[in-house]
Amino acid sequence: MGDIKKIAVLTSGGDAPGMNSAVRAVVFSAVNLGIEVEGILRGYDGLIDWETMPLNLINVRNINNRGGTMLFTSRSERFLQPEYRKQAADNLRANHVDALVAIGGDGTLRGAITFKEEGINIICIPGTIDRDMACTEYTLGFDTAANTAMEAIDRIRDSSISHGRCSVVEVMGRKRGYIALWAGMATSADAIVLPEKWEGNFDGIIEELKKRHTDGRDSYLVVVAEGVIDAEELAEMIQKETGIESRVSVLGYIQRGGQPTAKDRMYGSLMGAYAIEILRQGMQNRIVAIKNDVLVDYDITEAVNMQNNTFDSFQYELSLRLSE
Ligand code: F6P
Repeated sequence: MGDIKKIAVLTSGGDAPGMNSAVRAVVFSAVNLGIEVEGILRGYDGLIDWETMPLNLINVRNINNRGGTMLFTSRSERFLQPEYRKQAADNLRANHVDALVAIGGDGTLRGAITFKEEGINIICIPGTIDRDMACTEYTLGFDTAANTAMEAIDRIRDSSISHGRCSVVEVMGRKRGYIALWAGMATSADAIVLPEKWEGNFDGIIEELKKRHTDGRDSYLVVVAEGVIDAEELAEMIQKETGIESRVSVLGYIQRGGQPTAKDRMYGSLMGAYAIEILRQGMQNRIVAIKNDVLVDYDITEAVNMQNNTFDSFQYELSLRLSE
């Protein structure tokens, strides 16, 4: 195990289902190798304030099935400033921590890169519902969020059918449209608005809905990824141009909460164990990732510079062909 006697683990950024499984796997894998584990509370903020709890095989029991993160989280503004990063690094050194495992999304990875300059060995695990990290095919939380969005839209559709309305449903995803695409396709949406594909074609959506209206359809569903267009404006436009009564539902944080799916528990466990394995091998400043469905790892600076070109246009084309 080289010189590693003690590690710390934290979760940072938006919480994501599966983070707890990753924490649990980190603790089990480390403790079984005789490594002590310090849990850092509230992400990078907890590192600055040294808000911690020792983790062991007892206190990470029964968390696999829990949403959120048992370590709490934050989007730390202070960590963007060098003096606070130095304070955080000094805390780790004063407490004899040899390496840090950070679980989170893009912001967490960027924070890790700046922290590397403080001489801290940091291993990242991708955790965000958005699935928006170029270096990996999968990020913890996506599967649960997509399923939660799908189930919520199924319920909204029931009401839509009863009232003969058009439902415009806004889902999360930051700058990526994966949740919208998966939830929209799984619920046979009439239209899906994605950041990767949106060319301002409001008329296309209106024409399609009009055509379906004329053909005798009695309910309609449009799924919109957040930040692309204003869902309220779209609903008003649909109502005005087609005469179909329209309503907006913004799914919001229900997509981040709830019990993780088997996939998120499994991938959380695999990624957590893999992080400890690469530390055991003496690796430094790496991110765990999935490529071709297999666990791999990359240098964190290389990872942050990768281009996000994994969006599958075929899946989008298919969603148009299969929309009902
Ligand atoms: O990154 C996860 C995410 O839920 C995004 O989908 C969303 O845009 C953002 O976080 C919301 O952030 P906050 O929790 O700061 O409101």
